Amino acid sequence: MPSVRFRLNGVETSVDADPDRSLLDILRGPLGLTGPHFGCGAGECGACNVMIGDRAVTSCDTPLWSVADKDVTTVEGLGSAERPHPLQRAFIAEQAMQCGYCVPGILMSAAALLSRNPSPSSADVKQALDRNLCRCGSHNRMVRAVLRAANEMAVE
Ligand code: FES
Ligand code: FES
Repeated sequence: MPSVRFRLNGVETSVDADPDRSLLDILRGPLGLTGPHFGCGAGECGACNVMIGDRAVTSCDTPLWSVADKDVTTVEGLGSAERPHPLQRAFIAEQAMQCGYCVPGILMSAAALLSRNPSPSSADVKQALDRNLCRCGSHNRMVRAVLRAANEMAVE
């Protein structure tokens, strides 16, 4: 079985697996990272979003081979319970979730936005989250949370 190497949450990682398997399948299976969620499996909902470099990408339709030598960040690499990312603190402060199923993917879309644009407008945030579905209808609070995190990060 060929080996695919990449950096996962800052750690050099090597996976022996069929390189055509989806990145989501590899993350949730052999690598044991269950933050990225399976929703549609067709690149349509964003529940599986991760960052590749500074871009949010749907991992369910991203083949393992395509991340060779790249930086992959999942929600596990964003922050922890002990050291939450400002986005995670802001989502809690704004109560920007209900069931939470979509949230890991939304956090990664928001993190990708803030890495490229630290001072987004409301319209920028809405555009960045446009492809992330939330069946609970929490979008407005999520937009507020992303703007709150951007403000906090600007003064840190
Ligand atoms: S599960 Fe990947 S976009 Fe829906
Ligand atoms: S909080 Fe439930 S799907 Fe978004």
